[in-house]
Amino acid sequence: MFSQQPAWRIIAEAGRLVSTKQLIDGSAGGNIMQPSNVRLAVVFLPLLITACGQREVSFERDINPILQNNCAVCHSSGRPGYIKSGFSVATYQDVMKGTRYGRVIIPGSSISSTLVRLINHQADPSINMPKEYTSIEQKHSHYILPGSNARWLSKHDRDLITKWIDQGAKDN
Ligand code: HEC
Repeated sequence: MFSQQPAWRIIAEAGRLVSTKQLIDGSAGGNIMQPSNVRLAVVFLPLLITACGQREVSFERDINPILQNNCAVCHSSGRPGYIKSGFSVATYQDVMKGTRYGRVIIPGSSISSTLVRLINHQADPSINMPKEYTSIEQKHSHYILPGSNARWLSKHDRDLITKWIDQGAKDN
């Protein structure tokens, strides 16, 4: 019942209930650890934690830095990834446009989004992203860019991208 509510509303609501309860049993200013307060905390804390875990992923704050750090070195104009596939991460619009063959992000469906398969290494090894340039270096030596700090994405970063797409891949 709370999952559709923004976290701040749940927090405000919990706060209101606690103070109403304190007023009723005259405990305002009393011992915070009294049983009625502890019971309220036991009920509300898990709800608050759940609500906060569902905060919306932001393109600007969460996703764009990952793309700039790990993809832009190859996926911007004149770079090998862009030349070969047409996929650029220069702007939100470019990311949504995809490759020259079509979209790699389907808003609302990470499962149908090619980009998610590539970063999770569920695609052909030759197109897993970021393009491998450590262990199969020799094979793809022409893609190795000395000085680049692009890395395989951590689970945390891959989960963020997946979540952002499932939340609609918004320009937020
Ligand atoms: C070291 C260079 C390099 C880096 C870094 C890199 N890519 Fe690529 N990317 C390429 C190349 C080269 C291709 C073309 C592959 C091919 O068609 O053989 C490509 C192709 C792609 C494609 C199109 C695949 C298709 O369907 O043909 C996507 C999507 C993509 N990259 C996403 C990313 C993302 C997301 C990142 C960052 C997490 C990233 N790439 C990082 C070099 C790179």
